Amino acid sequence: MEIRKARKYVRIYTQLEILMQSCSDPLARMATINAILYHKMESFSWVGFYLLSNGQLIVGPYQGPLACQVLENNKGVCWACINEQKTITVPDVRAFPGHIACDSRSRSEIVIPLRNKDKEVVGVMDVDSRITGNFDDTDARELEKICSLVYR
Ligand code: SME
Repeated sequence: MEIRKARKYVRIYTQLEILMQSCSDPLARMATINAILYHKMESFSWVGFYLLSNGQLIVGPYQGPLACQVLENNKGVCWACINEQKTITVPDVRAFPGHIACDSRSRSEIVIPLRNKDKEVVGVMDVDSRITGNFDDTDARELEKICSLVYR
């Protein structure tokens, strides 16, 4: 199972690297990453970006059900990722204090810091799943790699 998932990420990363050659615009790259991940990873129910703007976390490109447009400051998983500047994996969102449920069917979540060329955190990539405990170290490692394509 683990190996199957790791191999799938290798194929996705290879495809994304090729796609990124067509356009260096960060928003176009985020949109492309979302489309590939959302349609290829069956267990992902929402894939998208929240971007920092004037101290707020505002929704950027995404695929999946309608999401919150602005996340309440310093609450929830995305803000925890911004404040701690590291990937946060939540096996059970109901056990995460302050979790913001844009989709009540979401059961687990992983949030990765999005860094610009100067390595400053400018937002996050957020992935939700309707399966409890869907995300592990393989997802964390591979999604961090994918996230680093946005500003490369
Ligand atoms: N659950 C996130 C909010 C964003 S939605 O999952 C798309 C959070 O707690 O920050």
